[in-house]
Amino acid sequence: MATKKNTPCSTSALLIILVTGVTLSLTVALGPASPQNLQLRAHADADGLALTPPMGWYPWNAFGEEPQTETLIKEIVDALITSGLKDAGYAYVGPDEGICFSRGPDGKLTSNLARYPSGLRGLGDHIHGKGLKYALYTDAGSKTCSTAMPGTKGREFEDMRAFADWRADYIKIDWCNSEGQDIVKTYSLLGEAQRAAGRPVVHSLCSWGEGYPWKWAGAIGHMWRTTTDVCAPGQADWARAVRIAFANEKLASFAGPGRWNDPDMLVVGMPGLSDAQGRSIFSFWCMMASPLIAGNDLRDMTRPTIDILTNLEAIAVDQDPLGAQGHVVWNDGDVSLWAGKPLFDGSRAALLFFHGKNKARLRIAWDEVGFAAADELYVRNLWTHETTGPHAGGVDVTVGGSDAAFLRISKKNEFPIPPILVADTYLVSLRAAGSRPEKLTGTVTVANKGSSELPPWRVDPKSLPPWLSVEVTGSGKTQTFVNTVTTAGLKKGYYHSLVRADNVEPISGRPMSALYYDVDLEVVRNVRK
Ligand code: GLA
Repeated sequence: MATKKNTPCSTSALLIILVTGVTLSLTVALGPASPQNLQLRAHADADGLALTPPMGWYPWNAFGEEPQTETLIKEIVDALITSGLKDAGYAYVGPDEGICFSRGPDGKLTSNLARYPSGLRGLGDHIHGKGLKYALYTDAGSKTCSTAMPGTKGREFEDMRAFADWRADYIKIDWCNSEGQDIVKTYSLLGEAQRAAGRPVVHSLCSWGEGYPWKWAGAIGHMWRTTTDVCAPGQADWARAVRIAFANEKLASFAGPGRWNDPDMLVVGMPGLSDAQGRSIFSFWCMMASPLIAGNDLRDMTRPTIDILTNLEAIAVDQDPLGAQGHVVWNDGDVSLWAGKPLFDGSRAALLFFHGKNKARLRIAWDEVGFAAADELYVRNLWTHETTGPHAGGVDVTVGGSDAAFLRISKKNEFPIPPILVADTYLVSLRAAGSRPEKLTGTVTVANKGSSELPPWRVDPKSLPPWLSVEVTGSGKTQTFVNTVTTAGLKKGYYHSLVRADNVEPISGRPMSALYYDVDLEVVRNVRK
């Protein structure tokens, strides 16, 4: 039976980070982990993206680069939808280092049509048409890590334009083959190039902690890897994932809405991990407000894996609008208590992790997890979905080996889920025959799987081209954007608009991530006025 030892929370820590075989010793100055300690978040302020941690799927953990093809990505897209992951909020999906483009003789990036016959724009349209968001991958150096694809070095502006033309919504930018490059200057240039390309994207920096990105990357992008890869492709590595969680938690004070520490993709559901270990990993990632990028083969999941990945009560902690990153309060080696995560309704999350065998039984005192010692509180177990209480002073918790008790603690016996958005499509495609003026409409419907009725989404009419107007209908849980195109006076050709909509989460009053979708219009012949 494990017992608790209280250790003071340190204000600095030594992180040992392994980067492609090189050991770097990083002394990290850490402030107290509270949302008040956040730095400016200039980049997300401008585009409104990723105000809660991005959720999606990337192929690397399960597949490496070899079997990635358009067929695989499309099968995964179908599995995302049928398994319930899309309804739980997972949205960003696409090839990682999937040998999906090369550089043509003119220096421009060109899709690898042998592997991706629809081209990268065609794949993006397919993904958007399914109500999902498009993720792509590149590298800040001369080549990607496998050296099979070109990096952006020296071509930053052209390459970011290519990603915008392919309609990427998320770009992961790796740091391989970057010898001699200044990391801050390079990623800053890439941020500038992305803004110049005109399409807002979630910018995911991937330097594995090199250059201490938590100190500066919030002004450039939305998330940054803090450590080495969580596993080699194909096999989960439990010990490594736990080490990464305990390195990443120390950076809690650097995270907040629009700026996230990224401990890498999830290993839940991969070979080599038990269900208890999967629950622990998912609890850590949610507690740390980490991006939830699933990395397993979604076409082949056990019921427990689906239940872990789609546990809305755990996801609610990750997607909380306050965006606080939880951290370790005390750690005696085998048992650790994680707290420091206030939630939008006044409740708080706590996590008790047992890194031993058999069982640990411990008491969590309310003053260890952010409440007053004498409070009487309700406890929601986020894995068993049971509420107990009110409990005076604290609660006794039993947790099995390699498992985590993941709790939400509240003065009220209710545990609302923050907004989890699910769209039927992110692409409206309209075609006008021309000659006679026409009015055409196409819709985008967005449902909230969370508890609240949302206020109406707002679209700034001044941000739209003259041929497009948007009206928002419905209310509360489901709203529809009715896009009306008026073709009078338009010339034959193709027209495009990226529509931005904004909203506010009603319980906290915090802005929600901006919602973007594409409207395409083809006008076949010149149209009279
Ligand atoms: C690096 C990244 C991984 C993956 C591979 C692709 O190792 O950290 O997540 O993108 O490159 O080669």
